[in-house]
Formats: sequence, structure tokens, C-alpha cells
Amino acid sequence: MQGTIHVDSLTFQFQGNGENVLTDISLSLRAGEWVSIVGHNGSGKSTLAKFLNGLLIPVTGDVTILGMNTKDFNNQPLIRKKVSMVFQNPDNQLVAPTVADDVAFGLENAGVPFKEMQARVRNTIHTLGLSGLENSEPSRLSGGQKQRVALAGALVLQPEILILDEATSMLDPIGKKEVMDQVQRLRRETELTIVMITHDLNEALMSDRVIVLKEGRIVGDGPPLEVLSHSEMLADTNLIHPFIIEIMEGLKGKGYDLREVNNTIITEQELVDAIWKLKQMM
Ligand SMILES: Nc1ncnc2c1ncn2[C@@H]1O[C@H](COP(=O)(O)OP(=O)(O)OP(=O)(O)O)[C@@H](O)[C@H]1O
Ligand SMILES: [Mg+2]
Repeated sequence: MQGTIHVDSLTFQFQGNGENVLTDISLSLRAGEWVSIVGHNGSGKSTLAKFLNGLLIPVTGDVTILGMNTKDFNNQPLIRKKVSMVFQNPDNQLVAPTVADDVAFGLENAGVPFKEMQARVRNTIHTLGLSGLENSEPSRLSGGQKQRVALAGALVLQPEILILDEATSMLDPIGKKEVMDQVQRLRRETELTIVMITHDLNEALMSDRVIVLKEGRIVGDGPPLEVLSHSEMLADTNLIHPFIIEIMEGLKGKGYDLREVNNTIITEQELVDAIWKLKQMM
């Protein structure tokens, strides 16, 4: 089977809690795919993420990562190496006195030789636009910079799968954009498989595929423009249309179909361009 992650009939409840947190989850992620997982609070997104990096092991069902079943204890070290995670709160993830030390932290633990470590840290800091901040104290950085340091710390390990669990949710709009620009770049320039858990459907719109969770079940899975235009399903899961789709649907209701001009609009600029074009056509 092709793909990087396979989840097969995964059902899960925390011990002592009689309710399923995840029910009959099956999904396959392709290598290099950028997948968003969206859903309301408590729908099971973070729990699912913990199965995708082998932090939780199925009792019912199976999770296979890069061909390795997470149930096999011998697979654990390699799975840990291949899957990197970035979490919500930047302040909980940065541990070292300087940016460079922080990015190097995971490599030191992995026993990478010093020279190689230095080169990898330098390159990763550079690609994430953090050059010049090597000796800065992480606590003095902006939120967006902190999350880019966390991202650097994850990427320097050269994973095949990157999981972002609400990695932008504590950031201001500038910080969000800094991080999202990096995710878009990774999608363009690398083979990395990206799983992005987010509350922000405007962010989900940028990915290749959106999976919607409701009460631990998958209720939507497909291309973002398709899934996120599904008004009833979004209302049913307490999710709000992304801004761009809100505008497109509103205009459509008034008889102006922007999709006739451009049926792949995902950025605000594309939206504005399409409105201009439509106006000129009238
Ligand atoms: N360690 C735990 N022990 C018991 N119950 C838990 C534990 N972690 C999460 N839960 C419960 O499992 C359910 C799913 O939680 P999870 O954190 O996966 O949701 P989420 O979709 O990530 O939510 P959020 O959007 O708030 O981050 C919730 O009802 C939560 O209370
Ligand atoms: Mg969560």
C-alpha cells in the first residue's frame, strides 16, 4: 500500500471514561500530502494526533506509520525519528537559553556528531528566516518567531511526517502568517507529509485535504474547497465557513458566481482579483 500513515478502524476511550473519544477512524495519508484536521473542542483531534506519532497505541484497530505498526514496540524508536510534532504553546516548547541551542536540542539527544549538528542547525535556522537570532533568548522573541524556532527544532531532525497541533492558535495575525508561510514553503519545496490540526478554517483552506472530526468520528474528508463549502456539515459540527467561502457563497446567493471566473480561489488576493474580473465582465 502506498502512503505514509494508515489508520484502520481505530476506536479509543481513555481508561475509566466510558465514552469513545475516537470511533472507527480509518484513513490513509499519501506521502507529501498536506492534510488539515478540523473539528470543535474535544472532538478528538489531539488524541488522534497522538496516535499518528505513536504516543498512544491502539487497543482496537491499527495505526501504521511508514509501514511500521505502532503496536510493535521495536518500531517505536524509528517512528519517533520519522514523526516530529509542534504544539500550541510556544513557551512550553522552548527549553534552551539560546535559539541555536534550542534548535540543536533534539539532535544532541539523537547523538548526531557535533560538526553535522552545527551545519544542520545553521541551515534550518536559515531556511526558517531566523538568521541573526541564533544567540537570542527564546523568551524575548515574538510569538511567530518562537513557533518558527519550535518548527526549526522539529525539522532539524529531518522527519518524514510533521504534525502541527494548533501551532498557530496562540499567535497574532502576523505570527500566524509567519508560520503558515513556512508550512506552505515546506509543502512546495519538500516531500514532507504535513498533518495540521487547526481551528482556523482559513488555514485549512490552504491544505490539500481536510478531514472533519465530530465527537470522535470522521464526518468529512476531501478537497478543502469542497468540504468547507458544505454548509450543513459545518453547522452540524459548529464550524464556521472560512472567510473566503463566506463571501463566495454570499455573492452566489445574489447571483454572482465567482467560481465561473476562478474555481480554485483560496487566498484573499485571488478573491479580490476574481471580484474585479467578474465586475469587468458585467
Ligand atoms: N488524558 C485524558 N484523559 C481523559 N480524557 C481525555 C484525556 N485527554 C483528552 N481527553 C478527552 O478526550 C476528548 C477529546 O480530547 P482532544 O484533546 O483529543 O480534543 P481536541 O479536538 O484536540 O480538542 P481541542 O480543540 O480543545 O484541542 C475530550 O472529551 C477530552 O476531555
Ligand atoms: Mg487539541
